[in-house]
Amino acid sequence: MNKKSLLGFLALILTVPAFFACKKTDHTSEVIVTERPTPSITIKPIQSQDFSTDYLLTIDSKNGYEISNLLYGLFLEDINFAVDGGLYAEMVKNRSFEFGSMAKGQNLHGWSVDEGLDCNVIDGNLDHSYINQNNPHYLNIRNTTSSELQINNSGFLDGMTITEGATYKFSGYFRSKEGISSVHILLKDESGYIYASATIPEITDEFHKYEVTLTASKSASSTLGVGLYIVFGKGSVDTDMISLFPQDTYKGRPNGLRKDLALALEELSPTFLRFPGGCVVEGETLENSYSWKDSIGNGLPFEINGTVTYGDVATRPLSENLWGDQNSASNHPYYMTYGLGFYEYFLLCEDLGSEPIPIVNAGLSCLIQGTKKVGTPADALPVDSEEFYQYIQDAIDLVEFCKGDETTTWGAIRIAMGHKDPFKLKFIGIGNEQWGTVYFERYEQFVKAFEKAALEKPELYKDIQLIVANGPASTDNYAWKKIKLFGTEYAGLVDEHYYMPPSWFLSNINRYDSYDRNSVPVFLGEYAAKSNNLEAALAEAAFMTGIERNGDIVKLASYAPLFGNSISYQWNPDLIWFKSGVVWKSVNYYVQQLFSTNVAKQVIPSSLTSKQSLQNESTSKVNEIAVAKSLYQVCGLDENNDIILKFVNVSDKPIDITIRIPELKDTNAIITTLSSESLSDMNTVVNPTLITPKEVSVIASKDFTYEIPKYCVSILRIPTK
Ligand code: AHR
Repeated sequence: MNKKSLLGFLALILTVPAFFACKKTDHTSEVIVTERPTPSITIKPIQSQDFSTDYLLTIDSKNGYEISNLLYGLFLEDINFAVDGGLYAEMVKNRSFEFGSMAKGQNLHGWSVDEGLDCNVIDGNLDHSYINQNNPHYLNIRNTTSSELQINNSGFLDGMTITEGATYKFSGYFRSKEGISSVHILLKDESGYIYASATIPEITDEFHKYEVTLTASKSASSTLGVGLYIVFGKGSVDTDMISLFPQDTYKGRPNGLRKDLALALEELSPTFLRFPGGCVVEGETLENSYSWKDSIGNGLPFEINGTVTYGDVATRPLSENLWGDQNSASNHPYYMTYGLGFYEYFLLCEDLGSEPIPIVNAGLSCLIQGTKKVGTPADALPVDSEEFYQYIQDAIDLVEFCKGDETTTWGAIRIAMGHKDPFKLKFIGIGNEQWGTVYFERYEQFVKAFEKAALEKPELYKDIQLIVANGPASTDNYAWKKIKLFGTEYAGLVDEHYYMPPSWFLSNINRYDSYDRNSVPVFLGEYAAKSNNLEAALAEAAFMTGIERNGDIVKLASYAPLFGNSISYQWNPDLIWFKSGVVWKSVNYYVQQLFSTNVAKQVIPSSLTSKQSLQNESTSKVNEIAVAKSLYQVCGLDENNDIILKFVNVSDKPIDITIRIPELKDTNAIITTLSSESLSDMNTVVNPTLITPKEVSVIASKDFTYEIPKYCVSILRIPTK
């Protein structure tokens, strides 16, 4: 052992637990190289005296192959109150009095009204007295007493959290024909303690948007029952779009995102963002499917205090979210305000540095949830109908919205909304998780329309690639059959989805090894090993070594779902858990983070040799399987030529490995580990950091050993310069 590596070794054993060791060995031997396309772990017999550890990993850092530069991204759907009541920072629930039959209290859901105060929700459709036709209901308040009386909104789910010194932006539309003596805005808790207050100046007789800021004098957690109070003096007033936002949103954007949750996304370094679903794109019926045009107010011009605007949140109609219960009035009704609409999704992509991957409805509702509701084959518009063609037109218009200039209808709306430059847009998903003739005949109409658009307006459409759905299961190959039949022009990417137990992921590491390299690349749009415990996270990590090894054909991969609000959710597990004012990250999150922040540019050939298989050649087949079930790995180079080794030890014992990198000069390497004592361990609100990555620095050389802890994902980053 030379002096430098001895120092490294000493530094390491002083800084890490005893199970963790790294030392240089003196063995040298012929390098065994696996070449593309044999991306699976290979176990080849070599001379047993070559190494004394459980395994020998030999690496050929010279003969790598390029993999996708978009590999690890995110899928964001408004499920589990991920968006309204989650990432979207609006603190007021039912701000526009549009909630309906899914909500207890219907249009007044979320609001409490003092006794003696006369409050009525008015349907402005009847006499056009609304702020605009997309937002027809408003609240009329009449105080005939001489006392000040109030209405109050306590926010989504578990309520509001406020922070001392933080500023909150209140806005609301008010109109008073008969006059009102005063309107005050308060942040107050159940005990009556006032954290901030402001006064609305004189109210005009036409709807006017009023804005005031409130600075909290003290912090309050949601358990104190903090709410927004509007206190009225004598008189009568109409009000709508009552909103409260923290000033400190992600990137300081108005109408922005909860900073803690958005930062959790940023820290995943996502290369792409798939949005807005998932089943919400499809709807149970087409009626409650996500409409991107609704999410930007449908191009309705809207005058705010004398200025004509487009896309303002006040013009975005409310929609039911299919993850809500359509059949009963709930305390936690699930609506989509579209406050985080397509404009904000594209901004988020820019802020995260991610490729936007919007998914649009294919003129067909959800074949699983929708079929349950309306019967097979869900809610499908006739292919030759005008209504169906409108869905195609909407997809075509989406490109214009992103890339068109001020001479185009939808491009002009984007510009009026404040984004002069085009939004990036290369991929559009047509439908989600669908299959069968009912889907493909509709998908094919989209393909035709985009081909035509590309001929007519190549500047907008020629680079757009459509993503075809492939059904909801790991065994589905609906889209692949079509591609075999019609060729690779059929789609730009195939969207595969599967939610399977950990054992499935471990036995399917090689799923993509046999995929045809000349066919359409894969978009693994949704996957998860069905738990937030360490066992599932390790299985996902092991599987991701297979994804990365096949990163030449698997172009994008995203875990699903992304967010879970612990107060009310429809899907568990989720990557990031939260409630009001609190966020905690699952161990699955840290797996995603370790892979995405250490992604390779090139995968480099490697060969893993097991001592066990050498010692027991007669049963080597069996042993190879046993060995492969303990340790999974992939090796790569990043853009700086750093060698990145990813190991996943799913066994309950540490694994000792000799790592052989010919020609490597002694260098400082970083090892990051993610592990815990038991497979059932998980991060929770009570113990949010039970399992988090730990980093140490070591000396790596051309031939060194490393003990991979039990139940561990371990990343070695080895600079070569
Ligand atoms: O990720 C949750 C749901 O799973 C998605 O909405 C859907 O695509 C899939 O069935």
